[in-house]
Amino acid sequence: MGDGTTRDAWSSRWGFVLAAAGSAVGLGNLWKFPYITWNNRGGAFVLVYLACIAVIGLPVMLSEIMLGRRARQSPAAAFPELGNPKWAFVGWLGAATGVVILAFYTVIAGWSLRSFVQCVGWSINGYEAPSSEAFGAFLAHGPSQIGLGAAFLLFTAVIVVRGISGGIEKATRILMPVLFAIMLYLLVVAITMDGFGEALGFLFRPDFSALGAHAVLEALGHAFFTLSLGMGAMITYGSYVSRGDSIVNISLIVAVLDTVIALLACAVMFTIIFSVPSLKETMQAGEGGSTVGMLFVTLPNLFYTQMTGGSVIGPLFYVLVGFAALSSTISLLEVVVATCVDRFGWARRKATAAATGLVFLLSIGNALSLGASKAMSELKLPKVLTAGKAGVLSIFDHVAANWLLPLGGLFVTLYVGWVLDEKVAKEEIGTGPVYQGWRILVRFVCPVAIGWIIYEVLRGGDFS
Ligand code: TRP
Repeated sequence: MGDGTTRDAWSSRWGFVLAAAGSAVGLGNLWKFPYITWNNRGGAFVLVYLACIAVIGLPVMLSEIMLGRRARQSPAAAFPELGNPKWAFVGWLGAATGVVILAFYTVIAGWSLRSFVQCVGWSINGYEAPSSEAFGAFLAHGPSQIGLGAAFLLFTAVIVVRGISGGIEKATRILMPVLFAIMLYLLVVAITMDGFGEALGFLFRPDFSALGAHAVLEALGHAFFTLSLGMGAMITYGSYVSRGDSIVNISLIVAVLDTVIALLACAVMFTIIFSVPSLKETMQAGEGGSTVGMLFVTLPNLFYTQMTGGSVIGPLFYVLVGFAALSSTISLLEVVVATCVDRFGWARRKATAAATGLVFLLSIGNALSLGASKAMSELKLPKVLTAGKAGVLSIFDHVAANWLLPLGGLFVTLYVGWVLDEKVAKEEIGTGPVYQGWRILVRFVCPVAIGWIIYEVLRGGDFS
């Protein structure tokens, strides 16, 4: 077990808020949310997603931070510490989920390195619109995919091995406000473009006939993914929070920041798509990997053809995408490392090396599944599990986000709602109306909602 007395702590409330927001805001907001929203035809999907954030995500976040702060341990050690060793499996499941997510996440994060280099080139030599096949060719190039992903993983490991103090907190304190400012600037540019109205309509005009059970599970899973819930990241980060801070306010701020950035990313990208007729056509035809590559294909076009100052913003933007991803991968690896340290008594170095090595091995299959290896790219699991998605990376993403995280979240709500001594929750959250509301949500609403969605998917249901 870890040694409570030498445990690091955030230096201030804002330090924790920004680190937690750094964990939450990442490729989930900038890359994944726009593309699944596009594929699920906007409106109704966005609405279900927002409901999942408010009704399920927020209470789960509050529960995780509470468990972490109370136990001052990483997840697999937190449940025993609170007196329920049988529940340690939730922590182990979380650490395993972290490995699965890292294995594909670092590969995608690697794309930001390439986009950065590409933008620097364009800023110096002038913009030349890449051919429509260029991105696909990059994806299918095995060595690039493995190498860039490994580089990104290495950056993560270098920070995590040094522990959570100083580094993470200092970096996110600067990065998050800058990221936010750039997003706002992009929004201002988008507002002046023709497609802005159409983009907002697409995002906010719900059409429920387009919604199936799998789309609802995807919205739920993404709510967990984007808030970094369901695998113990917030338990781990919460374990460094000091007494006396209101964890209710902290949860609220993180959830709102995360949601605003995700919606801004959609507004900007969809505006570009709707403003450029040829782009709109190919996107609506759903050709190739274009929706997956939206962040890396659609945005450069805006930077270099529609904006003043784009040659500065372009490279800078991908630095920030990289940093947004980095503050997320740090939190993922931290869970795995802290679990090994707390449960196996390993030194931090050894734990980091082992976790990084394991993630790297798994990332190879992911990196080769974007066209480089036919077998990896065409792999399929039963449809009920993966909604017919093919390829190792899509499968890892789908299984982690849509199954492992909701299950982890379900266990957390069952634990805090039905097993944990009520006294503990009252001491952590208070006894007012917020507590009352939270308790009803974690005891009844969240487990029933998650269970029901899972049941619907298993029986092949459709909500349309
Ligand atoms: N929330 C991050 C994103 O949106 C990804 C992430 C970081 C994550 N830590 C996590 C997802 C823990 C699930 C669990 O990009």
